[in-house]
Amino acid sequence: MWVRSRASRLREKGRPEMATDVQSGDVRVRVPAKINLSLRVGPARPDGYHDLTTIFHAVSLFDEITVAPGAPGTGRRVTLSGSPGADVPIGDDNLAARAAVILARRAGLSDPDVSIGITKSIPVAGGMAGGSADAAAALVGCRRLWRLDISDADLLEVAAELGSDVPFALMGNTARGTGRGEQITAVLTSGELHWVIALSQGQLPTPAVYAEWDALVAGGHQPADGDDTALVAALRTGDPERVAPELVNDLQQAALSLRPALADVLHAGTELGALTGIVSGSGPTCVFLCRGRENAISLAAELAGTGLVRSVRHAVGPVPGARLF
Ligand code: C5P
Repeated sequence: MWVRSRASRLREKGRPEMATDVQSGDVRVRVPAKINLSLRVGPARPDGYHDLTTIFHAVSLFDEITVAPGAPGTGRRVTLSGSPGADVPIGDDNLAARAAVILARRAGLSDPDVSIGITKSIPVAGGMAGGSADAAAALVGCRRLWRLDISDADLLEVAAELGSDVPFALMGNTARGTGRGEQITAVLTSGELHWVIALSQGQLPTPAVYAEWDALVAGGHQPADGDDTALVAALRTGDPERVAPELVNDLQQAALSLRPALADVLHAGTELGALTGIVSGSGPTCVFLCRGRENAISLAAELAGTGLVRSVRHAVGPVPGARLF
């Protein structure tokens, strides 16, 4: 167990807990969405997950999380704002609430009373790890709120328990993910890449997309050849023209099979001037790599005008992971 801070020792002695040094008493955390620049999926494992090799890339589309002390006995209270979507749970099954409970337990605090406010911009079940991002933000926020003396390495371990994409949401920037995605190492990049992010109507649940992938492979579909060596070399140059041809997503075929209309979105984006477009993670969000800022801004406007997508954002990457602000 971690060495606990003064706050948890005070709580043990029945004295009031000093929550945070932030004047309002709240702790605020900003956390980015991720896209996968490359996603190569291996066979299903006995535990139901798939071994994969991916290059994660954090982009400037952020959720904001506020954590604050809850009234005694109220447990976790989650409130949502922004564009949360209908199916985001507000009980202990919300991933941010689960993060608070698991972190508290690991630190020797049981049944924490904490109020968690989530302002969502990252699409729900959109292939951009929005739930994982909120969990990562809750870990960072609660560590500060409860003044826990926990290293970043230990926090990454807790993150991996919560979900495959949570460790990367803590780390941010660009990183290779292996195992089920939770083992991450930083990847060197230069400069900034400009992306247009096309949010689709509706959601694609990640397990359904992996199941479709399994069905496609069982039916003879061949995963893309190669590895991420050329992509990593291209990222080091920072040249989007070199990065574009290296983007690959094995799950794209599965997402298109479940949602054929996404092919029209990908086609429209490249016709309107993107270097290339791919489905983000398990979809249905599509992302387009652009030559630079101007190209991205004009593409975003034109793509919005097609009526093929719910909304469109311009974002840059890489950006850091979950951070206090
Ligand atoms: O880890 P996480 O809870 O985010 O994963 C959600 C679901 O996505 C898993 O239950 C599994 O169905 C699928 N998945 C997978 N292989 C991975 C990551 C996720 O099959 N490497």
